[in-house]
Amino acid sequence: MSDDRGRRAGRVGRGDACGKAILFGEHFVVHGLRALAIPLPTLRTQARVERLGPGEQTEVHAGEGHRTSAMQAIARATDLLGLEGAWRLETGSTVPSGCGLGSSAAFAVAMLRALLDHEGRSEPTQRISTMAWEIEKIAHGTPSGVDNTVVAHERAIAFRKGTAPVLLQCSAPIHLVIADSGQRHPTSEAVARVHAFAAGAPAEFARICADVDSLVAGALASFTTGDSERLGRLMDANHALLAQVGVSSPLLDRLVGCAREAGALGAKLTGAGIGGSVLALASPDRVEVVRDALLAAGARSAFEVCLCPPSGPRET
Ligand code: PMV
Repeated sequence: MSDDRGRRAGRVGRGDACGKAILFGEHFVVHGLRALAIPLPTLRTQARVERLGPGEQTEVHAGEGHRTSAMQAIARATDLLGLEGAWRLETGSTVPSGCGLGSSAAFAVAMLRALLDHEGRSEPTQRISTMAWEIEKIAHGTPSGVDNTVVAHERAIAFRKGTAPVLLQCSAPIHLVIADSGQRHPTSEAVARVHAFAAGAPAEFARICADVDSLVAGALASFTTGDSERLGRLMDANHALLAQVGVSSPLLDRLVGCAREAGALGAKLTGAGIGGSVLALASPDRVEVVRDALLAAGARSAFEVCLCPPSGPRET
């Protein structure tokens, strides 16, 4: 063991990271369009790492949904950070897995932060985001990078693949209800479904992308000015376009419809879709009614998020 490794043996490193929700542009972001994503600061993943001694094997104690890929993930993370040896990794999370709220990105960012903490090192946020993107590739193939970016920065962002994110701030409170459909579907299959749609109907896909492009531009303007009514209409339009490319489901359509009937200003699926979560935007006096309507319509759980200037989103 090198002197450095000996010095660090027995030391514990800790890191954590938030969940996320995509407000606009999921899937189309894979095809080069912009997305608008927000952090969910009160949904969190924690990671704790210790270096093991010579001859020991790396061990992971990861939460549901992460056990299989966690061994590969820590191997990739230590490689990216230039760290050797065997590690013990423990994680715990309140970010529900597999429902489009960023559990795998939160896992990757929390683990990287724990390893950096262990080493007494720091890295710029964008570098942590890029490393998390490399780790995300293990489970998700070729992610656009929106999840790792919003989770690492823990700020609302406008994101376009391959470019630096633009950090956003809303100027008036925006109230959202996030509901879990209880349905689970791999992100990679949903992404493949959209690729198949694009390959099978290129002219129609180009028209849909043009609609999404102008819709996201409107959403970015409405988000920063706090124009909830317009944001709601744009969410409805975004959901319809996601349904057209095949990533909604009868249950997601029902949840979205019930939220609107209960007075939501707009509603859409969020993340990969087919299953996962829906977002509903509501005026403060309708939030509870909308949440109850989503639960009555079959959502497994539902909670409120308030995007509040200037300190960003918080859940109540
Ligand atoms: O399953 P989620 O919420 O992590 O969805 C990822 C977002 C997609 O746009 C569907 C894929 C991507 O790589 O951006």
